Amino acid sequence: MTEPLLVAEQVSMTYSDGNGSLEALAETSVSVARGEFVCLLGPSGCGKTTLLHILGGLLRPSTGRVLFDGQPLSAPTYRIAFVFQKANLMPWRTALANVALPLEVRGVPRSEALRQAHEALRLVGLEGFEESYPRQLSGGMEQRVAIARALVQGAEVLLLDEPFGSLDALTRDQLNEELLNLWQTQSKTVVMVTHSISEAIYLADRVLVLTSRPGRVALEAAVTLPRPRPLDGSWGPEYSRLATQLRTAIAIS
Ligand SMILES: Nc1ncnc2c1ncn2[C@@H]1O[C@H](COP(=O)(O)OP(=O)(O)OP(=O)(O)O)[C@@H](O)[C@H]1O
Ligand SMILES: [Mg+2]
Repeated sequence: MTEPLLVAEQVSMTYSDGNGSLEALAETSVSVARGEFVCLLGPSGCGKTTLLHILGGLLRPSTGRVLFDGQPLSAPTYRIAFVFQKANLMPWRTALANVALPLEVRGVPRSEALRQAHEALRLVGLEGFEESYPRQLSGGMEQRVAIARALVQGAEVLLLDEPFGSLDALTRDQLNEELLNLWQTQSKTVVMVTHSISEAIYLADRVLVLTSRPGRVALEAAVTLPRPRPLDGSWGPEYSRLATQLRTAIAIS
């Protein structure tokens, strides 16, 4: 493993409002190596999204700190891109214009922004849909646009929060395969939240299981199954062992 790229040191999160406070994340530490694919699993409400937002500088932890490439991270950076469960596309912009937006915001000249957006849409298999509006796209295509928007930022790190959770199983398998392809060819570092044990084992180099709220890392499991891994889950005894280990950790956490 190479040097860590993204490190959360003893981070915790307590949300407070007028009515009191809620401890979402207990003190927990996570270290992600450059080029690694890490999946986060855990029961609903255990703080996975909270941890992901902290890792990307979207949320300031109550205690602890995040180091990105050796430097403290206290705000979002274009070097870390998010893909959320919902694509959050702008309905009045075409697919191409949605993807070009982060570049335009950064002051990249429009013609160059559009060129890069074209290329990113091609990478996610949406050539020919550049001028489509979000309402003309399927859910899977919208998530592809969201991924293209993340890619175009030129981010080294992709933080994905159940990006394919609302899609049917076939589309999800296909997008997971494409995601792996992008991760490998574009040399990205990925942290992805999922509810699916088989998805985590298919994708990840390492799976972290969080305990129920307040979350903290209960188990870290390396996935050493050789790639490419078959999509049909016919991975033999090592897969069964891992799946059981993860299922047990989630159940008792
Ligand atoms: N902005 C917020 N203000 C107050 N409480 C919050 C806020 N965001 C999350 N919480 C609470 O923190 C806890 C953890 O939420 P979080 O969204 O991180 O969980 P999660 O593991 O991503 O859940 P899920 O699997 O359902 O997406 C929950 O109890 C939630 O109600
Ligand atoms: Mg969540």
